[in-house]
Amino acid sequence: MDSRRLHVTFPSSSTKDVHQFQKALPDLSEPAEIGCFSLSYVNETRREFHDDARGLRLLLRRPSYPLSLDLKEGFDTYKKFDEGARMNEHLDHFLHWILLHPQEFLFRKQSHKSRKKELVVCVRGSLTDLMMTPYEKNDGWIFVVCRIDGVLYLTKFETEQDVYRWENGTEEKENFMYWGYKFEQYMQVPPEDPQAFQGPINNSEGFHSVIYTKLSDTGILLVGEMDCLDPKAPPTTPAPFCYVELKTTKLYPGLDLSVKQTFLCGPKLLKYWAQSAICGVPKILIGFRNGDGVVEKTEEVATVKLPLLAKEASRHGLKDSVWKQEVCLNFLDGFLKFVGQVVAKDYDKAAYKFEWSPGKSGVNVSEEAPGSRWNFIPEWYLQSRPG
Ligand code: A3P
Ligand code: MG
Ligand code: MG
Repeated sequence: MDSRRLHVTFPSSSTKDVHQFQKALPDLSEPAEIGCFSLSYVNETRREFHDDARGLRLLLRRPSYPLSLDLKEGFDTYKKFDEGARMNEHLDHFLHWILLHPQEFLFRKQSHKSRKKELVVCVRGSLTDLMMTPYEKNDGWIFVVCRIDGVLYLTKFETEQDVYRWENGTEEKENFMYWGYKFEQYMQVPPEDPQAFQGPINNSEGFHSVIYTKLSDTGILLVGEMDCLDPKAPPTTPAPFCYVELKTTKLYPGLDLSVKQTFLCGPKLLKYWAQSAICGVPKILIGFRNGDGVVEKTEEVATVKLPLLAKEASRHGLKDSVWKQEVCLNFLDGFLKFVGQVVAKDYDKAAYKFEWSPGKSGVNVSEEAPGSRWNFIPEWYLQSRPG
């Protein structure tokens, strides 16, 4: 047996399904940072783990308007990390951190085990993708999950569409991607030396926060890359509430420059909210760029305000902007519970693949044999795992 289709399914994105998740908000407990690590560039397919906060940057607050930050600058020296290599890392860096901090992991594991509740280990991006599923019209996903000593490990695998996109990226897309990283560089400074020379853009380095949170009664241990720390946050502010997410978006000419107006024109709002809400990042600083890649203005917006802006957009009849936080969180909550019920066997017996594409109602599940390409837990973790 290499792959066995399981006759279980979970509803996803038809209108009827969205309706089904439209109920009271599930409880998302206050996220707490329990550790951190940094990653640095080795070459275009490899990066190095550091058990410290060396990648942390401070937010450099510039005047919000008028600004002229040219995001095109330095593109010829861009050190781009391979997208396939990024996905192939799966949970490796996180697992490395767990091996170095077993007590932090074991404490949560025991606590969930004694209450007979699930604990999920994953990266933040996986949760963001899951939360957006009820509204996703273009991109499907594949998640693989396994159970080790009772804990669920969840990771994303590339779809055929992802591979096609990596191999056929347009110049315009490359530019947009570079612009996002360049904006981050303009807005960040190293804490120890705010005047330090900022070298070529390198999209593999960063500071990663390890966060514990709970969605209804499912515990989640997640890792998220944090863009910067707010120097204006009082020193007693616990992480992750001291972090700020940086984003760039297009400035729509002819409109008032307020965040609200611009968002009413764009469906990006949901992604911004999902990414920051799930890990407790309270603030998003947005750079508005013109068509030539020059940021002319920035605005700060509180993460909790985004669902309200979406509500307002829906009142204006802007269909692309219509989403509800309760649908996203109930979908995630329901999906994680479904995963917990399906993933029964231990990892040395099976891995479970969950596959979904837009337009299809329902998530397909299969049980994959040990040793298949869907195995993502490295042998070094299996040998040395805590507990
Ligand atoms: P923008 O989101 O401002 O465009 P993050 O916002 O998650 O910190 O990521 C920083 C930048 O990485 C993004 O900036 C974007 O340029 C690039 N990026 C992240 N995820 C991406 C994706 N899935 N596709 C293309 N670019 C991406
Ligand atoms: Mg980031
Ligand atoms: Mg960002």
